[in-house]
Amino acid sequence: MTSPWSRSAAWTDELTIADVPVSVLAERFGTPSYVLDVPDLRTRCRDVVAAAARAGEEHGIATSVYYASKAFSSVAVLRWAYAEGLRVDVASLGELATALRAEVPGAAIGLHGNNKSEAELDLALRNGVGRIVIDSLSEIELVAERARAAGVTAPVMVRVTTGVHAGGHEYIATAHEDQKFGLSLASGAALEAVARILATPELRLLGLHSHIGSQIMVPEGFVEAARSLLRLRSEVFASTGVLLEELDLGGGFGVAYTADDDAPDVPALIAGLVGTVAQVASETGEAAPALSFEPGRSLVGPTVTTLYRVGTVKPVRLDGGGERLYVSVDGGMSDNIRTVLYGATYTAALASRRSEAQPVLSRVVGKHCESGDIVIRDVMLPADIRRGDLLAVPVTGAYGRSLASNYNQMPRPGVVAVGEGDPREIVRRESIEDLLALDLG
Ligand code: LLP
Repeated sequence: MTSPWSRSAAWTDELTIADVPVSVLAERFGTPSYVLDVPDLRTRCRDVVAAAARAGEEHGIATSVYYASKAFSSVAVLRWAYAEGLRVDVASLGELATALRAEVPGAAIGLHGNNKSEAELDLALRNGVGRIVIDSLSEIELVAERARAAGVTAPVMVRVTTGVHAGGHEYIATAHEDQKFGLSLASGAALEAVARILATPELRLLGLHSHIGSQIMVPEGFVEAARSLLRLRSEVFASTGVLLEELDLGGGFGVAYTADDDAPDVPALIAGLVGTVAQVASETGEAAPALSFEPGRSLVGPTVTTLYRVGTVKPVRLDGGGERLYVSVDGGMSDNIRTVLYGATYTAALASRRSEAQPVLSRVVGKHCESGDIVIRDVMLPADIRRGDLLAVPVTGAYGRSLASNYNQMPRPGVVAVGEGDPREIVRRESIEDLLALDLG
């Protein structure tokens, strides 16, 4: 059992995060807000980098950890992550621009994407990006052409679909055959890509990449993928004499959304994977590769709590008898689509006061115009929860703000950082004026 609350969260007569009462945050920054626990974020970043490095030293393997910025991308967060020793993984022009604005050096940035644009490649190459992860055979010529135009050699990796099936929802599992990412190991496309890249002078092949999915709770899938990559590396060595220097095992490490989830200790899991790769590599008699990882969710997810203001509270009779309390908040599927999209589970707590009232079966819903607009399907909340209360939902840092929308012309919430100086908005709340400014009439 892992507590879902961020590490600086504590309860006095209300919830505080990094010693700031939520009522103060709501008063000052409004609701809904995403509240980022900065000391928690920095510690998670530091711990994962240190664990990988320690295990690497022990086994003579160089390690690096990339923050998968798709989970949540902002200048302040990328600055903190980089300061704690992480590199940054980007997958779009906007994510790349944000990393550059955060002054992450190009060499510490990795570019992903199954459909990279020329603009993305050009900006990446101009900034000396550390690696471009090739996702298709056709991309090889495209990257070579942009590298030629920029007058540089592009460092690349090959994203391999290993056939490992892992992760929660179908939409977030990524290494089985019938989906859009990567080059298949089984069909020989991955080996073909390696051969073509080695024959392309504008490209320098660093190694092989695998990302098997997301919200994965156990190490087996990563180990299986690592074994596949090591086998492919040996095959490449045998057929070309080139021993690829690096393997990337991707991200996807799971977190606890509720106290029922059994989440892995991610630094320990990563350290274990480093050891396994070292051991498997030693069995082949080849020098072990450098290893990299790309966690997103496990770094930022548990560090953010969404603060909502409660509005309408409505008891609804259930078909089989009994009752459910529908608690409406001032956000919903526009600030957290994960419940609707993946059937994700969350917990929540009345945050602005203590209540001795009986906990009752409740459903937290938003204010959007559809009945599927559910933030939490089932949660126990005090029976006296009422309009004006603050409701806190933990573990919304990953794929929360980054998947937010303006459905129903709702402005997206801001992100408030606490625990590092004065609480401050690091991403400003949108206003109705912001939305109208995009509307050209
Ligand atoms: N590396 C690559 C190549 C990825 O595609 C991803 C996530 C990551 C790393 C980071 O994975 P993480 O450690 O965050 O699991 N929107 C979904 C998750 C989509 C994951 C996309 N790729 C969700 O909310 O569950």
